[in-house]
Amino acid sequence: MARRDGGRLCRTLIDEIDRLSPTRNRWRPSFQPVVAQLDGCLARGPKETSYLRGAVAAMKPHLNWHRAPPNPALGRFDRHHAFSTIVGPTDRVPSDSLMLGLMIVDRATHYPGHAHDADEVYLPLSGDAVYHVAPARPGRPRDGRYLPIPAGARHALWTGDVPELIVWAWMGNIRGGYRIAGAAR
Ligand SMILES: [Fe+2]
Repeated sequence: MARRDGGRLCRTLIDEIDRLSPTRNRWRPSFQPVVAQLDGCLARGPKETSYLRGAVAAMKPHLNWHRAPPNPALGRFDRHHAFSTIVGPTDRVPSDSLMLGLMIVDRATHYPGHAHDADEVYLPLSGDAVYHVAPARPGRPRDGRYLPIPAGARHALWTGDVPELIVWAWMGNIRGGYRIAGAAR
C-alpha cells in the first residue's frame, strides 16, 4: 500500500509544482530559537540531499520560521521545532492546492503522533530521526528517499543525537483538519 500511495503522492506533488505560477510574494523573514541549529543541519547529511541543502542555504536569510500553536499534547516538541512555509496560500510562492516548506526538530525530541486531512510527503535532508507512519513499522527512509503519508494516517517521529531537517509538502485537502493523536510508542 505504501509504495502505491507513494507513487500517487509523488506524481501529485510533481503536478502541483509544475502548476505553480511565476508570481512571487515578498519574503517575510522571522526566526525561532531552534533555527540556530540550521547551519549544523546544512553542514551534514547524505550526498543524495546535498543539492537541496544548498538550496536551503541560499534561502536562509529570507525564511519565515514559525511554531505550531501552543498545545500541551505536543510536550517538549512545542518549543523544540520550527517550520517555514515557502509555497502556500499566503506564502512566498502562492498556491491554493499545495503547501511546501521546511521543518527543523531539535535533537532528542518526539513529534507526537498526529494526523490530518491533507496528504503529506516528507523528505529528510539531514539528521537521524526515526519515523512512524501507521500501520507500517517505525523506520527511516533510505538516504534521499521520501516518505509518503496518506491523508488520515497517524504519523510521528523521534530525533536522536542531532536535529532533523525535513522538506514537507501538503496536497489535497490543505485546509482540512489537523489532530494530535497521542504517542505512537
Ligand atoms: Fe504531518
